[in-house]
Amino acid sequence: MPNRDALLHITDLHFWEIVWNPLRLLGKRFLGNLNVALRRNQEFHTERAETTADALAATGISTVFAGGDFTSTSTDREFEMAAAFLRTLAGRGLRVLAIPGNHDRYTFTSARRRRFERYLGEFLPAELPCRVDLPGGTPFLLLPGAQPNVLSSCGRIHGRDIERTAELLSACPPGPVLVGAHYPLLPEAPGYETPPLRRLRNAEALRQALGGSGRTILHIAGHVHRASYVQDPQYPGLWHATTDALFFERSGAKRRGMFTEIQVSEDRFDLCRHVFDGAWRRTGA
Ligand SMILES: [Fe+2]
Ligand SMILES: [Fe+2]
Repeated sequence: MPNRDALLHITDLHFWEIVWNPLRLLGKRFLGNLNVALRRNQEFHTERAETTADALAATGISTVFAGGDFTSTSTDREFEMAAAFLRTLAGRGLRVLAIPGNHDRYTFTSARRRRFERYLGEFLPAELPCRVDLPGGTPFLLLPGAQPNVLSSCGRIHGRDIERTAELLSACPPGPVLVGAHYPLLPEAPGYETPPLRRLRNAEALRQALGGSGRTILHIAGHVHRASYVQDPQYPGLWHATTDALFFERSGAKRRGMFTEIQVSEDRFDLCRHVFDGAWRRTGA
C-alpha cells in the first residue's frame, strides 16, 4: 500500500535560562528555576538547534508537529529562543504546527498574559481542538490540555473539547486519522509510567471518544520524555505513540534526544525514530 502522508513529531524542547533576579523567582518558578540550575541546563542541549533544523529538513517531510513544552518556566527569554527555533524551521520550508505544554503555561501569570500566544502564536492554530489536513489529505486533529497548576504538572481536557473532538472526527473522510496532543492518554505503556499528578484529567473519556469511533487513529504525544508505541489494549483501531525530548542528553543515560517520523498509509502507521548520537541518525521503530 503506498504512503499517503508523513509527519514529523518534535516535543519537549525545554529551552531554558537560569533566572537570577529574586523578584522573578516568586512562587512556583523558584522550584522550576532550581530544577533548571541543577539539572536541565546539563540535559537539554538546545545549542543543537541549527543542526536539528537541518536534520528535520533533510527528511524531505514538509510538516512538523511541535507538541509542547517549548520552555522550562515560561520566561520571555525561553519563549524568544523557542520562537527563533520554529522560525528557523519555517525558513527551511517546513510547515510547523505548535501546541502548548504544561511548561508553557508554567505560572498563572504566564498563562494570563498569554505568553505562548504572543511568542508562538504564528504556529498555533486559531483554536483547539481543530483539524488540519496533511498534504496527502490525512486529517490531523490538534488537541488542548495544558493548564497552569500550583505545583503539579497535570493537564485537563474539558468535556466540551472532547465533544468537539468527536464532532471533528465524525466529519473526517474515511481513512486513518492523526491526533496530536501534549499529554498521552494512557497513564502507562511499555516505556513509561506517569504518576497521578503528571497525568491528563479526563483522559479516559477522550480515549473512549477516539477508540469508540472505530476509526484507525494514531494519538501522538510527548510530556513523559520517553519513546513508546503501543496498540490500545481495549480499542484495536487506536494506537498511541510518544516521543522523547528533542534535545535531551545526560551522560551515562541510554536515552537520547529524539524526533519521530510517522508514515501514514491507508490502513497503518509506521514510525521511525531519529536519535542524536553525536549527529542525527535515523533508526528503526
Ligand atoms: Fe516536558
Ligand atoms: Fe509536559
